[in-house]
Amino acid sequence: MTSPPTRIVQCAEEHLPAIAELAGVIWRACYPGIISSEQIEYMLARMYAPEVLLEEVRSQGIRLDLLLVEGKPAGFASYGPATEAGVMKLHKLYLSPELQGRGLGSRLLQHVERQVGRLGTHRLILSVNKRNARAIAAYRRNGFVVAKSVVTDIGGGFVMDDYIMAKDVPGDLSR
Ligand SMILES: CC(C)(COP(=O)(O)OP(=O)(O)OC[C@H]1O[C@@H](n2cnc3c(N)ncnc32)[C@H](O)[C@@H]1OP(=O)(O)O)[C@@H](O)C(=O)NCCC(=O)NCCS
Repeated sequence: MTSPPTRIVQCAEEHLPAIAELAGVIWRACYPGIISSEQIEYMLARMYAPEVLLEEVRSQGIRLDLLLVEGKPAGFASYGPATEAGVMKLHKLYLSPELQGRGLGSRLLQHVERQVGRLGTHRLILSVNKRNARAIAAYRRNGFVVAKSVVTDIGGGFVMDDYIMAKDVPGDLSR
């Protein structure tokens, strides 16, 4: 079977509504059983409203890259500086449900590693829900290890019960 053509592009402001819509589809398909449906809707509204995404991209130094499969938005990754120098945080890594489990998440993750390597980053960190076995397996497969465990109050009576995972990245991988 041949793979469909894929491309990763830096997200433009015009793509933000498509990202918000894709996030809704992915979250409602993948997070039941991990967090409650009330928490899914609460987090989607706080994290994925197009104006929230716009503020992240314009003012917080966060980069959002879009995976196009056959020219259509199929996944995205966002990443930006962490508090510690030389460390970047992967904020989001999401793939359309029907495209998961084919290695495309790893492709997107390796793209992020190359990008942050070019920016002089030596370590990439991320947080992942402790019950999100599929994502944890994908991160482990790509060399991330659990660095610590954190519970964060996100308001509205909800918490995020996460692992922080980390990977050392070897600088500029573009050569
Ligand atoms: C987490 C996520 C991005 C991982 O993406 P993915 O494509 O499913 O993961 P991988 O790239 O590691 O794919 C590996 C699977 O593809 C298979 N595969 C097929 N071809 C492959 C290839 N060329 N290279 C690597 N794996 C390949 C592997 O065998 C593996 O199958 P398995 O899961 O049955 O063991 C994706 O599952 C997702 O979007 N999940 C929902 C959202 C989410 O939880 N995001 C993370 C928030 S922290």
